[in-house]
Amino acid sequence: MVEKIIQVAFYDTKAYDKPSFEQYGGQNGIRFRFFETKLNEDTAALAEGCDAVCVFVNDDVSSAVIDKLYEYGVRLIALRSAGYNNVDVRAAFGKIHVVHVPAYSPYAVAEHAAALLLTSVRRIHKAYNRTREFNFSLAGLTGFDLHGKTVGVVGTGKIGRIFIDICRGFGMKVVAYDLFQADGVDYVSLDTLFAESDVISLHCPLTDDTKHIINAKTIEKMKKGVVLINTSRGALIDAEALLNGIRSRKIGAACLDVYEEEADIFFEDRSGHIMDDELLSRLISMPNVIVTSHQAFLTEEALNNIADTTVNNIISYFKNDGVCDNELCYRCGNIEKCRNDRKERCF
Ligand code: NAI
Repeated sequence: MVEKIIQVAFYDTKAYDKPSFEQYGGQNGIRFRFFETKLNEDTAALAEGCDAVCVFVNDDVSSAVIDKLYEYGVRLIALRSAGYNNVDVRAAFGKIHVVHVPAYSPYAVAEHAAALLLTSVRRIHKAYNRTREFNFSLAGLTGFDLHGKTVGVVGTGKIGRIFIDICRGFGMKVVAYDLFQADGVDYVSLDTLFAESDVISLHCPLTDDTKHIINAKTIEKMKKGVVLINTSRGALIDAEALLNGIRSRKIGAACLDVYEEEADIFFEDRSGHIMDDELLSRLISMPNVIVTSHQAFLTEEALNNIADTTVNNIISYFKNDGVCDNELCYRCGNIEKCRNDRKERCF
């Protein structure tokens, strides 16, 4: 008997996605149809006839899109990311199963956060531009030692804990905030973290509780000169409040791999275009703001792990018993608990 090829509509394709997905998919009877466009209500029709869709962080997987996908016969949404704030998991329940890649390389993200931190505090971004023009002046490049400083880590999951280890390697004092406490970490209240930290790094997911966790009020509570790092999700920070904090000199530097309105901007070459987003333009124009375009995950190891896990998730659903450890499900109204406890399909 010829085994059925699983058809998967792959949205928001980038050149770096294709080699690993073609390789792992080909080896496992999965045919990916690659589309450059993002998934939204208008592009959902491209998935007609497909068994699954494969999406990334800026695809729109809202309730309306889920209904359309369901109509077109799609039965699985395979996220190739850890974060799933762009998916209405509640709306998907009972219709389409949702799987994600819980960890592809937490090291990639934690190391990128550290790279941004070092770049910022030692002004590497400034020095790099200067020496390319044979400007060897050191004026304005004075940084500060990380050794002995306090770093506040919000979210001590896989990435946060690796970032903590890196910071300890620099001789920094670490304080942390999380809803759940891990061993060997010094937890404090969020207010204490804001008050004591010279550097604050965000590693929690975007939820209703964490949206704009950095806002005008919380910035008020921080030390003058604090360095903020966000490699998690843009909407954790109220970008307007951040800009005001930088302009008032309260915030010493910001390192942003994510931005609330990044969906229509990041991942594309916009160098020949007029930038319509005034807020992002202002942030980028600041000498103490470093922006990378959601690049923290982008290592060879992570890309291979993403393709490998996504293909295994798809195989689990269509070819095995349908139980996938990486399923996100709304069964108990608690996505994480449900994912961890499930031994059988919920619907
Ligand atoms: P994880 O699930 O291992 O850890 C998240 C931690 O945040 C958990 O310990 C959880 O208890 C905590 N948390 C949840 N709600 C919280 C709250 N209200 N306040 C404080 N802590 C809270 O996730 P992981 O793998 O460490 O990833 C963290 C985040 O990093 C993801 O949610 C994702 O948004 C982001 N990410 C960004 C990437 C990039 O390329 N920039 C790539 C991968 C992930």
